[in-house]
Amino acid sequence: MVQATPLLLVLSLALGAHSLSPRKCNLIGHWVNDLGSHMKVFTVNEDGDFSGTYLTAVTATMNEIKESPLEGSLQRNNHKGQPTFGFTVNWTFSDSITVFTGQCFVDKHGKEVLKTMWLLRSRVDSIEDDWKATRVGINIFTRVQSQK
Ligand code: BTN
Repeated sequence: MVQATPLLLVLSLALGAHSLSPRKCNLIGHWVNDLGSHMKVFTVNEDGDFSGTYLTAVTATMNEIKESPLEGSLQRNNHKGQPTFGFTVNWTFSDSITVFTGQCFVDKHGKEVLKTMWLLRSRVDSIEDDWKATRVGINIFTRVQSQK
């Protein structure tokens, strides 16, 4: 029984590490998407609220692009890992708003990937133009590896 203890310990550590692997998804950090836009998430609190900054690579306007704040929410029921989330970017250089919704996945190479969909609402002058005011799309984010 005494000799079995280290074996059980190694076994439980191995099984534990395996079942923990999907939980590797952690939104905090620096991300880049398929358009070349950069997103930084600074903090996620115990309720799942998070904040950060977004530097888009593209714009639907003629305005000069500036870094903009984002506020989001990570699903609180994250017992199984690979959590869902949503966030809003309140553009500082335009009168638009973008909402993103997505899920943090760990791919087959163990790499974190954020698969998102977004709605970009542009301001229009009249209700008659409402029909053309919302764009929709997808973005895929991967983590920017920190320089060592
Ligand atoms: C604007 O043009 O009014 C603000 C910038 C919008 C950028 C959009 S948001 C969805 C898509 N994903 C990005 O990274 N950038 C564009």
